[in-house]
Amino acid sequence: MTFTHEPLAQIVPAVRAALQRGEVALDVPDPDLGLGLYAGEAGPAGVHRPWAVWTDLADLLGAHLLTPERLAGGRVRLRLRPRQSGPDPDAAGYGAGGAWSRVDKLEDPVFLYTFVEALRRVDPPPGGRVLALGVNAGRELDALALALPGRVLEVVGVDLDLSALAAASARFPQGTFLQLDVNALPRPELGRFDLVLALSLLQSPGVRQDVLLAALRRHHLTPGGGLILGYPNARYRAGELSYGARMRNFARPDLSLLAADVSAARRGLHGRGFKVFVTGKYEVLVTAIPAGASTPTGLEAVWDVHAQPAASEPVTPQP
Ligand SMILES: C[S@@+](CC[C@H](N)C(=O)[O-])C[C@H]1O[C@@H](n2cnc3c(N)ncnc32)[C@H](O)[C@@H]1O
Repeated sequence: MTFTHEPLAQIVPAVRAALQRGEVALDVPDPDLGLGLYAGEAGPAGVHRPWAVWTDLADLLGAHLLTPERLAGGRVRLRLRPRQSGPDPDAAGYGAGGAWSRVDKLEDPVFLYTFVEALRRVDPPPGGRVLALGVNAGRELDALALALPGRVLEVVGVDLDLSALAAASARFPQGTFLQLDVNALPRPELGRFDLVLALSLLQSPGVRQDVLLAALRRHHLTPGGGLILGYPNARYRAGELSYGARMRNFARPDLSLLAADVSAARRGLHGRGFKVFVTGKYEVLVTAIPAGASTPTGLEAVWDVHAQPAASEPVTPQP
């Protein structure tokens, strides 16, 4: 298929139909030649479209975008290969031997960047305590050292799955990992924490976000403590992240539940004395820090070659 001046509205149905029969090759204007143009503007070899248009189209139509080849005349050949359908990686649960253990969120650049930013925003003090709910194999804990280099923190992780907890213990031997249903919180013996993490947990079956957040606020946060809540906005498919939260039994994305849960968490925390930030892409992060705390600056400094610790003003304890 060759496209030069056709609008995207004509390309989408043609590619969609061709993908039903298998792999598709598209010859299109080289996106590199139109840098600075928006999609649909005239470029030197036809209608310009940035690479993101083609990656989005591939995802939308359930295909892998293969490495393109450059053609003569300012054009490139793209290939889209239909993704194999298969079960979600968590279809068989969250055990250490299951498909979920293949997922490493820190390999998603937007998650990595925004999660590190969120951790620096909360900025638990040296020697501070971190509670990771639904911690699974503890992969998210690797981000603590990235975000807060050299900072010693006491980590407690909880999950329902014993094999995942064993994997977490192995990867993070200095942590304490407990089999615990988060619906059993508060548990006073756990004490209070400077940072509470709940990534891709709050929409799990049986978890009541409002009840859990109230228990955490009242019983498990220090006065200067903060929370980072993660809500999936993607589905894992054939080795790739496909954009958009799915409601149960819906094939197409529908962000209603995500939007409702994120805004309920944001509103609830804001109304109870927190400053709340909503960031992320494939995982939406709600970060809450006490309203009286100064927003730390230099959140991105950790990515500088000569990384500096985040500069932050003293945190004002909440009454
Ligand atoms: C989707 S995984 C997320 C794992 C990890 N936090 C991440 O973001 O990659 C959800 C985890 O929460 C755990 N979980 C689900 N319901 C739970 C509950 N009621 N109490 C404790 N853990 C729970 C599951 O066992 C699983 O490990």
